[in-house]
Amino acid sequence: MIKQAIIPLAGLGTRLLPLTSVIQKELLPLNGKPNLEYIMEECVEAGIKQFIFIVPKDRPTIKNYFFNDSFYTKLIKKKKDKKLKKIFQRIKKYQKMIKFVYQNKPNGTGAAVLKCKKYLKDKHFLMLLADDLIVKKNCSKEMISLHKKTKGSVIATRKVERRTVSRWGILGVKNKKKHSFSINSVIEKPKLKEAPSNYAIIGRYILPKKILSVLKNQKKGKGGEIHITDAIKTLIERGEKFYGNIFKGKYLDSGTLESYVNSNLIISKL
Ligand code: G1P
Repeated sequence: MIKQAIIPLAGLGTRLLPLTSVIQKELLPLNGKPNLEYIMEECVEAGIKQFIFIVPKDRPTIKNYFFNDSFYTKLIKKKKDKKLKKIFQRIKKYQKMIKFVYQNKPNGTGAAVLKCKKYLKDKHFLMLLADDLIVKKNCSKEMISLHKKTKGSVIATRKVERRTVSRWGILGVKNKKKHSFSINSVIEKPKLKEAPSNYAIIGRYILPKKILSVLKNQKKGKGGEIHITDAIKTLIERGEKFYGNIFKGKYLDSGTLESYVNSNLIISKL
């Protein structure tokens, strides 16, 4: 069973400056609710029981967001407002589910996962990148059911325009079915001529705990970061089974100011 979800939250959010100089990008509201909460709702609905948030020690905003009890109790006492109570309950229900792990340098998703070592209990876990929202259909649920069927690791994927392959991790495709395929290679942000397909990694992964031992010895990759993609590549080369889940929902990118505004428009119409 997949019960734990890792969410790396230590990125600087430079593509969303100047907003991200004062607020973490994952807390920016989409139609009145932070994108992080959409991701958490997706996880809870898919059966996740524990979140491991990887945050920088010197940026307590996410901790404050979920653990601001005295702020709410004072305000509720003063205003006696039912709406406030409801908001507090919505946030509070997550308190028992969240563990914080610290990553002080934003040196990549692989480095972030390695920090979670002592908390990971089961053979597989889910990892989600909070920039990548998938709405209308629960992608984590689809992935967990593909994992149950295949017993392998799973990566969420969609076709992207060929000219944009260098923006994504790209998958090599084998035995393609309507909504899934076997992954036979992976490359982080390839040049067009190096790309094995135009199926891109979208930020959802079901990974085996054994990836930790690969990450421990992994050298820095593109941009000087430890990428999870490079560790996945090593595992595939060692014969570990990975499957692409061509998700059915709608993908919303909120990593740039332009796409963030567009995502707001789409979500408000759902
Ligand atoms: C990360 C991953 C990349 C993936 C992308 C999806 O890149 O490294 O493989 O395709 O997320 O959003 P980033 O967006 O951090 O550059």
